[in-house]
Amino acid sequence: MDAIQKIGVFTSGGDAPGMNACLRAVVRKAVSIGLEVVGIRRGYQGMIEGDFVEMDAKSVSNIVQKGGTVLKSARSKAFRTVEGRKLAAQNIRDAGVQGLVAIGGDGTLAGASIFYDEYQIPLVGCPGTIDNDLYGTDETIGFDTALNTAIENIDKIRDTADAHDRLFLVEVMGRDAGFIALHCGIGGGAEMVLIPETITDVNEIKHHIYSLMSSQHRSSIVVVAEGDETGGATQIANILRADSAFENIDLRVCILGHTQRGGAPSARDRVLASRLGVAAVDALMAGHANVMVGIVNNEVKLTPSRNVWSRKKSISYELLGLTQVLS
Ligand code: F6P
Repeated sequence: MDAIQKIGVFTSGGDAPGMNACLRAVVRKAVSIGLEVVGIRRGYQGMIEGDFVEMDAKSVSNIVQKGGTVLKSARSKAFRTVEGRKLAAQNIRDAGVQGLVAIGGDGTLAGASIFYDEYQIPLVGCPGTIDNDLYGTDETIGFDTALNTAIENIDKIRDTADAHDRLFLVEVMGRDAGFIALHCGIGGGAEMVLIPETITDVNEIKHHIYSLMSSQHRSSIVVVAEGDETGGATQIANILRADSAFENIDLRVCILGHTQRGGAPSARDRVLASRLGVAAVDALMAGHANVMVGIVNNEVKLTPSRNVWSRKKSISYELLGLTQVLS
C-alpha cells in the first residue's frame, strides 16, 4: 500500500467534552509531519453525504477549550446499511483519503470495524464518550468533565435536600454503564448508588433508604445510573411513592441529563484528548489499522477495535465497596 499522505478525521455518536481538543491534536500532528487533512462533518453521516472540509493548523485554533465538537456529530442510521457504507467508502476514496481517525464511543468503534472489514481503509479510533465504557483505555475523553459536572450539581442538590429534609433520586447518564454514577456517588457523598453492573434489589433499597431517612439522616441522595435495570430514577420514585412506609418521606427526582455532555473540557480531559489525538496519527503512520488508541497505566496502548466494543470494561468493585462504607 502507498504511504499515507492524506487523512480524514471525524467525531461521531454522542459528543463529549474534549472532542475538540482531540481533533486539534490530530490535525496539528498530521500537519506537522506533512500530511493533508480532511475534516468530515457529522461523523459517518457526513462521510455518506461527502460533507468534507480541508483543514490546516489554523482551522483548529481556539477550540481546545470548547465543549461540543466543531465538526458536529451524528448517530447515522444510513451507515448501518450496506448501501450507506458503500457510498461512504466511495466518497473517502474519491477525496484521496488514505487513512481515518474516528473520535467517538462504542457505536463509532463498532461501525469502524465493520467498515474496515468491508473496505480495508486504515482507521484508528480515539475513545470519546462521557460514559467511560470502552475497553482498552483507563479513561475516555469527556468522562472527567461529565463527572465534575455531575458532582457540582449533586453538591447543589445537597443544599436544597438538606434545607427541606428531602430524599433526592438523582439520575446521571450511562446507558449501559455505571462509571459516572459510581464515581460521582463517591465524590458527591451519595447515600446509595444504583448501577446496571449490579443487581438492584428494590426491597433492599426501600429498607435501606427508609432506615436512613428515619434515623440519623434527614436528607439523602441516591444516585441512579440511567441504565440501571430498574428503569431509572423516575421509576424508582414511583415504586417508593406507592409504598405507604414512604408517605411521610418528601422525595424528589432530578435528572441531570445532557448537562453532563456540555461545557468546557476539564484540564484532565484536554490533556488526555491531546495525547490520544497525537497517538492516533502516530498509529496510522506506523501502519496500524482497525485499532483504538487508549491510555492504560499512563502509557499509550493499541487495542483492536473489535475488542473495544465486544469486551466489557469492568467497574471497580473496590469503589463499589466504598459507597457502602461511606454512606
Ligand atoms: O454518549 C453517551 C450518552 O450520553 C449516554 O450516556 C446516553 O444514554 C446517550 O448518550 C444519550 O444519547 P442521545 O443524546 O443521542 O439521546
